[in-house]
Amino acid sequence: MTLAYAPGKVILFGEHAVVYGRPAIAVPVTEVQAQACVEPGSAGNGTIINAPDLGRRVVLHDAADDDPLAHIVRLALEAIGGEQDPDLVITVTSAIPVARGMGSGAAVSTAIVRALFQHFRYWLPSRGISDLVYKAEVLYHGRPSGIDNTVVAFEKPIYFVKDEGWEVFWVGVPFLLAIADTGIQSSTKEVVGDLGRRYQGDAGKYDPLFDQIGAIAVAARSTIEQGHIEKLGHLMDQNHRLLQQLSVSCPELDRLVVAAREGGALGAKLSGAGWGGNVIALITEEIRERIGMVLRLAGAAQVIITEVR
Ligand code: MEV
Repeated sequence: MTLAYAPGKVILFGEHAVVYGRPAIAVPVTEVQAQACVEPGSAGNGTIINAPDLGRRVVLHDAADDDPLAHIVRLALEAIGGEQDPDLVITVTSAIPVARGMGSGAAVSTAIVRALFQHFRYWLPSRGISDLVYKAEVLYHGRPSGIDNTVVAFEKPIYFVKDEGWEVFWVGVPFLLAIADTGIQSSTKEVVGDLGRRYQGDAGKYDPLFDQIGAIAVAARSTIEQGHIEKLGHLMDQNHRLLQQLSVSCPELDRLVVAAREGGALGAKLSGAGWGGNVIALITEEIRERIGMVLRLAGAAQVIITEVR
């Protein structure tokens, strides 16, 4: 039996603008993980993928081309180069909330690729795994920037510019984030698609907003590297206002952002595609114990505290 894992992620700065070539920052969230387990299956059965959390059992040779679980398994088996429907049972579980901007799709795909590679003693660097997962992300997201698969594969804070590259960067002083889930599922494909259509109709309105978001990501990177965490909250607040102007926020997200600030957070913003999903709030050790209750009273379905380091 071979087990492999991959973490969730949150985007700290720059969601949406990153699709249009501006820089963004994302960090892994290791408190929630996807897990894939590969075991030998019964002779002649081919590859079976069980995903009990999703209520799915996929028989590889019957699965549609656009089935995301089958797609990533096929991509991994193709890369390995042996038999394309070996007798295996792959079981996928995940504690990462689905469709909340926490990279659950990228994490599930990464865990599957890692487990299959380990099982067949095949090795690719993290960059190769990230590239494979990107191909599966296209099915989930339509037009992904590539930031999710990159941060999940490297498991480090990254500064990312689409089509140009990315860098792991230094966190001068570790800091705490509260991640508050609205409980509302949101389809990245839908939100990115909607903004894309509005952009086509009025690029002159959106490009300056994307520029401002990109400038915030640049400033945030040096703020984090220098350990000036007290300045980071203000940048999160500014980024949230710009996301509101992109019309990707919603009342539930805005309510959590306000509650986080009133509860003592240094700043807060939506994270991911928006129209649901999560808010992230920059918190101090002093409010760590109570911020969960504050956010739950404001409607959060779940609150995760993570340290960025
Ligand atoms: C989704 O996690 C982040 C978006 O910027 C889309 C993308 O980068 O592909 C909304």
